[in-house]
Amino acid sequence: MGTCRAQCVLLGFLLIASHWTLVQNISCEVSQTLSLEDDPSRTFNWTSQAEICNPGEFCQETVLLIKAEGTKTAILASKSCVPQGTETMTFVQYTAPPGLISISYSNYCNDSLCNNKENLASIWRVPEPTATTNMSGARHCPTCLALGPCASAPSMPCANGTTQCYQGRLEFSGGGLDSILHVKGCTTMIGCRLMASIVSVGPMTVKETCSYQSLLQPRLAETGASWMPTSVWVLELLLPALLLPLTHCP
Ligand SMILES: *[C@@H]1O[C@H](CO)[C@@H](O)[C@H](O)[C@H]1NC(C)=O
Ligand SMILES: *[C@@H]1O[C@H](CO)[C@@H](O)[C@H](O)[C@H]1NC(C)=O
Ligand SMILES: *[C@@H]1O[C@H](CO)[C@@H](O)[C@H](O)[C@H]1NC(C)=O
Ligand SMILES: *[C@@H]1O[C@H](CO)[C@@H](O)[C@H](O)[C@H]1NC(C)=O
Ligand SMILES: *[C@@H]1O[C@H](CO)[C@@H](O)[C@H](O)[C@H]1NC(C)=O
Repeated sequence: MGTCRAQCVLLGFLLIASHWTLVQNISCEVSQTLSLEDDPSRTFNWTSQAEICNPGEFCQETVLLIKAEGTKTAILASKSCVPQGTETMTFVQYTAPPGLISISYSNYCNDSLCNNKENLASIWRVPEPTATTNMSGARHCPTCLALGPCASAPSMPCANGTTQCYQGRLEFSGGGLDSILHVKGCTTMIGCRLMASIVSVGPMTVKETCSYQSLLQPRLAETGASWMPTSVWVLELLLPALLLPLTHCP
């Protein structure tokens, strides 16, 4: 039974292959991961299984990373075969620190197993905080990051430089990563734009909604307060590429 089915699939495949004599079937890594990690650059293992694609298809690998100050990092990662496209490699930083951060990396390529990035070390680097801080007097926002509604959103002190409390909901579909992420935290970004009004990331579509947003209170204790030092986010690979799609020349 299994053999018959395999033969039928192979026959169909050969028919398609002979029909598309000019296009080639490549293999791509295929995996979908949705998780919350403490330190994605160290712990996230992006290895996967290879599969043969339909003739003419491309490979893609896309990861979206979202974090609020003091929360874990949400990872939405997808590798798959995709309909023929354009070979591109893109880094985008939608929201920059201090406070909330949202970035993506996406690679569309046309060689077998070219979507083979194994980890996020070159994409996401967040060093340990360098100094202890005295939070009294700092501004606060409800803070949470959850797949689904936040069970709790403790009020957390904001990093220096943040101006707003953000409270939003991101709905993702496609790429095998259908999910809803709830995000709350301090940010410099204005309005409901954690994703900078971008509606798709690689194979995923994104819909961002904000139930409400509260402006921060005027500065409490303007003088005498010790601010949390702004986190030194090392995104040197990303910053030059900020919002610039890069064409990848093989
Ligand atoms: C594509 O499929 C054909 C027929 O199954 C096979 O002979 C060929 O090795 C495949 N090519 C690649 C690159 O996988
Ligand atoms: C990642 O996972 C794969 C498969 O489970 C494993 O073979 C590989 O050793 C892991 N890599 C690291 C760096 O842990
Ligand atoms: C993808 O690569 C194959 C084989 O190298 C080539 O025949 C095909 O034209 C390429 N497709 C695009 C859109 O570049
Ligand atoms: C933090 O700063 C406030 C005044 O700015 C001070 O009263 C308090 O003792 C400090 N707390 C610590 C743990 O240093
Ligand atoms: C916080 O920001 C203010 C104004 O932007 C700056 O003068 C101050 O040095 C900053 N404090 C810290 C601890 O970074």
